[in-house]
Amino acid sequence: MQKEAKNPILLPKKTIKKDSMNRIRILGGTPLNGHVNISGAKNAALPLLTVTLLTDEPVTLTNVPNLADIHTLLELLDQHGVEIDTALPTVTLRTRTLKSNVAPYDIVRRMRASFLVLGPLLARHGSAVVSLPGGCAIGTRPVDIHLMGLEKLGASIKLDGGYVHASAPSTGLRGADVSMPMISVGATENLMLAATLATGTTRLINAAREPEIIDLAKCLNAMGAKIEHAGTDTIIIEGVDSLHGVTHAVQPDRIETGTYAMAAAITRGELILDNTSLDLIPTVTSILEQAGMIFTPTENGFSARAGNLKGVDMMTEPFPGFSTDLQAQFMALMTSATGASMITETIFENRFMHVPELCRMGANITVHGSSALVRCGTPLKGAPVMATDIRASVSLVMAGLAAEGETIIDRIYHLDRGYESVENKLRQCGAHIERITGD
Ligand code: EPZ
Repeated sequence: MQKEAKNPILLPKKTIKKDSMNRIRILGGTPLNGHVNISGAKNAALPLLTVTLLTDEPVTLTNVPNLADIHTLLELLDQHGVEIDTALPTVTLRTRTLKSNVAPYDIVRRMRASFLVLGPLLARHGSAVVSLPGGCAIGTRPVDIHLMGLEKLGASIKLDGGYVHASAPSTGLRGADVSMPMISVGATENLMLAATLATGTTRLINAAREPEIIDLAKCLNAMGAKIEHAGTDTIIIEGVDSLHGVTHAVQPDRIETGTYAMAAAITRGELILDNTSLDLIPTVTSILEQAGMIFTPTENGFSARAGNLKGVDMMTEPFPGFSTDLQAQFMALMTSATGASMITETIFENRFMHVPELCRMGANITVHGSSALVRCGTPLKGAPVMATDIRASVSLVMAGLAAEGETIIDRIYHLDRGYESVENKLRQCGAHIERITGD
């Protein structure tokens, strides 16, 4: 069972329900200055949490961020029967016996990365019934590549009632070559997890190269797996009979890193980002430097500030290209540059929902298909706006910090999915930001 650290402080009689505090109010115009501690990477921690399903020994993860998505995945693992001791940023998990091999829709639909339990359940337990995640705000986000790859590893896959019914042969999964038609982070992770216990060799061809995949491979190899060339487009996994426990530190969040670097620039302040590295965002840094930002490495991170910001074109691409998860933040930053910026989103089909909200604040942005033209330099004015997904929500926070006057952002539960203690981290750097109740 999941044990939360007991909180001895009794809540006041009338507690304000968390979800009623679903708005943020910002008074813009103050440059951000100071230190920001970068948390562990959400998109590394989520796949790392699923490795517990591959062993009956304890798995301890450190530097786990305190985010809604992490709690959702812990809720899912708990109902599978995983013993969980949560004392964030440390989590210890142990799967002695599996209580259920079903990943229910009401959890998977809330957090797509829940689909990553499919590979481990199949590999170690031989069968799984996992809800299809469905689409989300930024796109249809199918899972066909995950399923194609698992079938290549010998699994039989049936779709019924919105669920994937998967089972491995009685002799277990077997290694195979899997050529992925598109670069998919999740499919690469699901298949890498599944292949660790398959019989024989698996080659994942056209694999995603994100740093989070390297982090996952490092953790699995520390558990006794045999994975080579993670971080390249061809990952080779030699199946082993079993995996043992591990203690592993989640790597820093490169998306949070890029976000706060751009928040420094849009407010014309200077932030020193701690417990991270410019090496995590190589292409992002070079494009931001072209746009006029100035980066200075420090002992355990770097400082970031705006020079003379000018509009530059950007196209999102799989790593090591400019991350789609930083596209909305870059667009907000470009509104405060001079000139123009053509931003092309190549990963998701509907990831411009921040555009109408930024335009409500005075931005001059027009969208044509998968490209958005930002005519930079129109001053932003505070306004009531609405968050639509994790990264769109933080782009609105950035715009609010730079805008003149008051901005109220609604539906900020999106923000809580991906950014730990965002108000506190910003307030410590001079931001006038607070969480308020909303209708
Ligand atoms: C991961 O999502 C990240 N999430 C996303 O971050 C990130 O935007 C995305 O990778 C791309 O970098 C986590 O790591 C938890 P994909 P994932 O499979 O794995 C298509 C955030 O804000 N596709 O690489 O779901 C898909 O529709 C989130 O932190 C298929 O067609 O992304 C998309 O167009 C948002 N079939 C493209 O591939 C499949 O079977 C890339 O998706 C799988 C994917």
